[in-house]
Amino acid sequence: MGKDVIIACDFNSKDEVMNFLDKFQEEKPFVKIGMELFYSAGPDIVREIKARGHKIFLDLKLHDIPNTVKKSMAVLSNLDVDMTNLHAAGTKAMMTAGLEGLTREDGSRPILIAVTQLTSTSEEAMHQDIWIDKPMDETVMHYAKNAMEAGLDGVVCSPLEAGKVHEHCGAKFLTITPGVRFADGDVGDQKRVMTPAQAKEIGSDYIVVGRPITQAEDPVEAYRRCVREFIG
Ligand code: C5P
Repeated sequence: MGKDVIIACDFNSKDEVMNFLDKFQEEKPFVKIGMELFYSAGPDIVREIKARGHKIFLDLKLHDIPNTVKKSMAVLSNLDVDMTNLHAAGTKAMMTAGLEGLTREDGSRPILIAVTQLTSTSEEAMHQDIWIDKPMDETVMHYAKNAMEAGLDGVVCSPLEAGKVHEHCGAKFLTITPGVRFADGDVGDQKRVMTPAQAKEIGSDYIVVGRPITQAEDPVEAYRRCVREFIG
């Protein structure tokens, strides 16, 4: 499981994503497909992008009763994605069930990672709405530990949390970090950002990069710059 740059393909339609991927003639980047595209284009979009030679992180963030998550993960595993995810808030039992569902008869399976607390959830909302009394960073680390104990491969987290996650869960536990921006680029709506080089420095395993690549004048060059800075 090597370090890689994952492009967040946050497009609303199949045409848009295919036009974007057409630009990549030499390399086949690892791509993230989210709910909007999956719900609009259906599972065929995964098969088509896969057939073009890309690795796929299917970001559907499952959260339901263990039996439903298990059966749904079996479906995603059959789609042959390379990475997928679920919410750690669904409990260790749900994460274990998800992992079982994802595991194929031959023992192989996609990488399974957990979402801890969404970065859109403020500490205040976590206390008042979700009624978790603990501080945010302790909650994130607790969820990461639960994910590790359930046998998952890692967590999605802010690049600022990646070092601490590795301290708590070991160097092999993967950190997948969005919120990446070039030093001379637009931050947009992201609050806490890091450059690809900084993300490398603090030990992120995979960076998820959307607009700095998808909205760039030359997306292929922006992708190559990310790879140069993050992997070297
Ligand atoms: O365009 P940008 O680089 O901000 O895209 C980041 C991607 O990572 C988006 O798909 C966003 O939904 C996702 N993400 C995030 N922060 C999280 C979890 C996922 O930005 N905490």
